[in-house]
Amino acid sequence: MATVDELSVVVVGLGPMGRGIARVFAQSGARVTVVDADETRTRDNAEVLRREADRDDRPVPVTATADLAAALDGADLLVEAVVEDLAVKRDLLARVAATGSTGLVVATNTSSLSVAELGRAFGDPTRLVGLHFFNPATRMRLVEVVAGPQTAPQVVDRAQRWVTGLGKTAVRCADTPNFVVNRICRPLYYEAQLLVTQGVPAPVVDAVAQAALGHRMGPLELLDFTGLHTHLASSETALREFGDPRYRPIPLTRALVRAGLTGRGVGRGYYDYAAEPPAAARHRVVRPAPAGSGPVVLTGPAADRLHGVAGLIGDTADTPADAVLLYAAAGDPGRCAAEITDLLAAGRTVVLDSSDAGWLDVAPPGVGWLRLHPTAERVFAEVVHDDVAAICETTAVTAVLAATGASSVRLPALPGLVADRLMYTMANEAVTVVEEGTATAAAVDTALRLGMNHPVGPTEYVDRVGADRVLDGLVALARFTGDPRYRPCPLLRRQAAGTARRRS
Ligand SMILES: NC(=O)c1ccc[n+]([C@@H]2O[C@H](COP(=O)([O-])OP(=O)(O)OC[C@H]3O[C@@H](n4cnc5c(N)ncnc54)[C@H](O)[C@@H]3O)[C@@H](O)[C@H]2O)c1
Repeated sequence: MATVDELSVVVVGLGPMGRGIARVFAQSGARVTVVDADETRTRDNAEVLRREADRDDRPVPVTATADLAAALDGADLLVEAVVEDLAVKRDLLARVAATGSTGLVVATNTSSLSVAELGRAFGDPTRLVGLHFFNPATRMRLVEVVAGPQTAPQVVDRAQRWVTGLGKTAVRCADTPNFVVNRICRPLYYEAQLLVTQGVPAPVVDAVAQAALGHRMGPLELLDFTGLHTHLASSETALREFGDPRYRPIPLTRALVRAGLTGRGVGRGYYDYAAEPPAAARHRVVRPAPAGSGPVVLTGPAADRLHGVAGLIGDTADTPADAVLLYAAAGDPGRCAAEITDLLAAGRTVVLDSSDAGWLDVAPPGVGWLRLHPTAERVFAEVVHDDVAAICETTAVTAVLAATGASSVRLPALPGLVADRLMYTMANEAVTVVEEGTATAAAVDTALRLGMNHPVGPTEYVDRVGADRVLDGLVALARFTGDPRYRPCPLLRRQAAGTARRRS
């Protein structure tokens, strides 16, 4: 089988993706010919490609021609990166088929169209494979290798080896809408938008995603960057393709798009870029740790989660009687609430650490509620402050923030708060992707680590926190909202049952 440096590659469509893909193949030694819709666009876009390569100090030789048949003469691989329009791609593939190149492998970089349908348009679905590069293709290491139902296994293998030869990581997946990364991030984006509609400011959502989950960019800033119209269109596609109400678009985003407020490109979307850039908005909502505090005693059934956090001590005989007690709750809020009531009756000052929805109804009066997120470098806290639900940031909460050195944001009493809600819903989608056979758990984790720079893959997260806890979180969200978005998938339920049985 030819290695990348022995390949003759034709890249069709010289938007940002096609230009990046052409450069990546050329940098690896392939002979690359680039083609756009007509002579002028081919010449102009090839010039842009060369300038971009020079600017990055990686000049590459590429041949440019608008004559598709001539470009295909002797080619081993055609990568199509033309505009995301089924009719345009169909027409192109029919013209490629008409040149009669029987040994040619055809790769599509489509983000949302069916590889099977494009395979049929080409006429030989065994030779058509999805190679979903990420933007910018020159820098992103991940490529999703998408096997259509009729793609020949040896074509998928060859495509995977070429991707590896480009110095990239290939993740194999089946031909399902949105493939892996964009599919698993759907709930991340939906929940971020819903949180805004439920009273959490956009910079608070993004600050939590960054500080508690280690995401490079918050989901709302990312949506603004992509363009809300693009996201809305892909949400509508997902809803139509899956026929599942959990993929329905969020009305606020539809309203913003109708008003022309489609994100950073026009200066306004979830953020108003003229008023305040996202980084400044986040800076405004994240409060530094307050100064000075006495010791805080850690207790409760989920205390393990916070062991080792500086500033938290165990309850011993010589603990000062006035020390604040941080009660890390797990599972059953009703039972934990009864324990907290006993502690209050014994004169202790209690703060609750939890994201469970059940606390909205049972948190005892005067008890503060937060969720600490310790990372290797620092501690970050989501602090519930909700006048409507009469749950306020108490002086004891301030003492916990001071003792642990936690920076924090304030938010209303919503189930899962922000961080856990984003993770539970993404994890559920990831387990669904594994259950339906779209990709393996290992592939899913690699895809999210490389495609989104997430520090933990979603199935690794389930293993780490326990499938039963993720299930409890989703069940609570479903009960609280009545929304089918939170329906746990059957495999997660089975995993949770297994986790609970093995634990007992
Ligand atoms: N932009 C992204 O972030 C991204 C990421 C991954 C995948 N993709 C996919 O990659 C593909 C290209 O994306 P893009 O953002 O570069 O698109 P784009 O719309 O910016 O550019 C498309 C290019 O195709 C050319 N073109 C249109 N019709 C053509 C034809 N018949 N023959 C030859 N060239 C033609 C256009 O002139 C243009 O240069 C799409 O399928 C898209 O879904 C995009």
